Amino acid sequence: MSSYDWNVAQRPGASGAPHVQEAMTPRSIFATGMRTHLCGELRLEHVGLNVRLGGWVHRTRNLGGLLFVDLRDRGGIVQVSFAPDHADSEVLALAERLSSETVILVEGKVVARPEEGRNPELSTGDIEVRATRVEVLGPAVTPAIPVARARGEKLPAEELRLRHRVLDLRRPEMQQNLILRHRLLQRVRSTLASLGFLEIETPILTKPTPEGARDYLVPSRIHRGEFYALPQSPQLYKQLLMMAGFDRYFQVARCFRDEDLRADRQPEFTQIDIEASFVTQDDVLAAVEAVLVALWDEAGVSIEAPFPRLSWGEAMARYGSDKPDLRYALSIEDYTGLVGTDGAEFLQSAIRDGSRLRGLKFVPATEVSRRALDALAEVARGSGARSLLWARYASGRWEGQGARALGTHFGTQLSGSDGELFLGVAEPERVAATALAAVRSEIIKRQYVDPVRDHAFCWIVDFPLFEIDPETGARIFAHHPFTSPHPEDIAFLETDPDRCRALHYDVVYNGNELGSGSIRITEPALQASVFSILGISREEQARRFGFLLEALSQGAPPHGGFALGFDRIAMLLAGATSLRDVIAFPKTTAARALFEGAPIPVSEAELAALHIVIR
Ligand code: AMO
Repeated sequence: MSSYDWNVAQRPGASGAPHVQEAMTPRSIFATGMRTHLCGELRLEHVGLNVRLGGWVHRTRNLGGLLFVDLRDRGGIVQVSFAPDHADSEVLALAERLSSETVILVEGKVVARPEEGRNPELSTGDIEVRATRVEVLGPAVTPAIPVARARGEKLPAEELRLRHRVLDLRRPEMQQNLILRHRLLQRVRSTLASLGFLEIETPILTKPTPEGARDYLVPSRIHRGEFYALPQSPQLYKQLLMMAGFDRYFQVARCFRDEDLRADRQPEFTQIDIEASFVTQDDVLAAVEAVLVALWDEAGVSIEAPFPRLSWGEAMARYGSDKPDLRYALSIEDYTGLVGTDGAEFLQSAIRDGSRLRGLKFVPATEVSRRALDALAEVARGSGARSLLWARYASGRWEGQGARALGTHFGTQLSGSDGELFLGVAEPERVAATALAAVRSEIIKRQYVDPVRDHAFCWIVDFPLFEIDPETGARIFAHHPFTSPHPEDIAFLETDPDRCRALHYDVVYNGNELGSGSIRITEPALQASVFSILGISREEQARRFGFLLEALSQGAPPHGGFALGFDRIAMLLAGATSLRDVIAFPKTTAARALFEGAPIPVSEAELAALHIVIR
């Protein structure tokens, strides 16, 4: 970029446009050899200045003799006027022919708009630019999807938006999302660097790192029949960096996972990945909290740390979820003791067989009709409960099918206030938790309860180390196989591994999992025994993870870390509902890139060079 300063000297711009003379105002950092400012930068303080702007024609309005062009660039939109008292007929004729999305260069004077002409919705709404010259730099065909929308006009279907992504990205909302994303990243970097974290890049062509998804594989041309994997995360490399002595690492890491996509997942995504040595779990949580406080601050929200901590067991019992939305106070409690001896037989026998009566009790913010209760019962049944018991407190007593089925003990022992609702499920604990979690979400969705706060962060700690794969019945790692067992539970590792908790923690915000991490295993023998519990034979351990076991035996400091899903954070802070709205060129749910068109078939010759035959 030219360091030429419009304020102190004059020379023709790169487009060959004549000199521009201005008053002494601070030079914009966006000034180039072609323009003096960004459109969106201009304010009352620029009044009187001759400016030159480059941008896209957002909208035109022809009032006959007076033509307005809204000119747009990444800084925003400014109104440019063309009229015979400041532009000659040639300029006016060209301006009249400008079609939307054409790239133009405009020269003119900044003037204050009359009071009644000001637009408070536009940051440049107090001024306009009276054009004296215009030049078309980039003609545009009729846009396939509109960039400028009328108030209330719906967005085109997402598939169209992705197919015409360059136009879609020009929309001011998308520009703001990506600019916010940039600012958040700068803030991550400055925050972590100020805490002594070093930014170190790790390879993209790697050996598979298990994170629970399938790998994207890259065939090697020079090593016939061999493949690299794209990293599911830099997990092993960051641990190796700890062993190499780079205490406190971070990376803005691109990760690749070939998994079924959902609204909050992309096959290619970005993590804020951190790792540190000689740390306890508390140290890692404090570093992550510092990053989150800074990020929310960057988005204009003040949040407080430390965040409350819930054990995984507690979260499952009270919210039926390991990512509870704690903006709402509503929690699941145990009411088994309230089932009276005169309660319905099906309830008594369920309790005898080990089921629990769990329930949600709350004063609704709005009337919950009988029909609404039926809909909630449907949700409970959809999650495996046989029925949803309900009772409503009115005129000093509990009424409804639930109150009748539960018996007099329930009616007399449970306190209530007018209008209060009790929703109960009598099922084995896991079923009750899942069903009531679904009912709780529905209650929140239908706004039967009000939030008690706007921003609710929490830590979920003490996750189980292993879980059972519901499809195969096999024992699998709950997070990844490098997570340290909880020191209090090491004894169960051999005898009862499923009881073993892990030094693994997640951070949750308003019901969204933002990230995960753990303290890692640093003893080679313990690492090998965890691999064995996961059914990985000694030979396979050596083949897949030999390099890790070797590094662990060469002097490994205790270490732990974390990874934040950066796209999710950017989405939530931008107020967007899809990850695709904060990623410049995202994939569809079918893992396709619609704009550039990927993946694509490749030629026989290319396949042959890679030693690949398509079956
Ligand atoms: P984990 O697999 O939990 O942990 O990932 C960390 C965070 O990354 C985000 N995330 C995703 N975001 C978008 N699309 C996806 N497909 C996707 N998958 C994950 C989530 C998630 O919480 N190596 C460990 C971290 C560690 O132990 O340090 C890891 O990758 O927000």
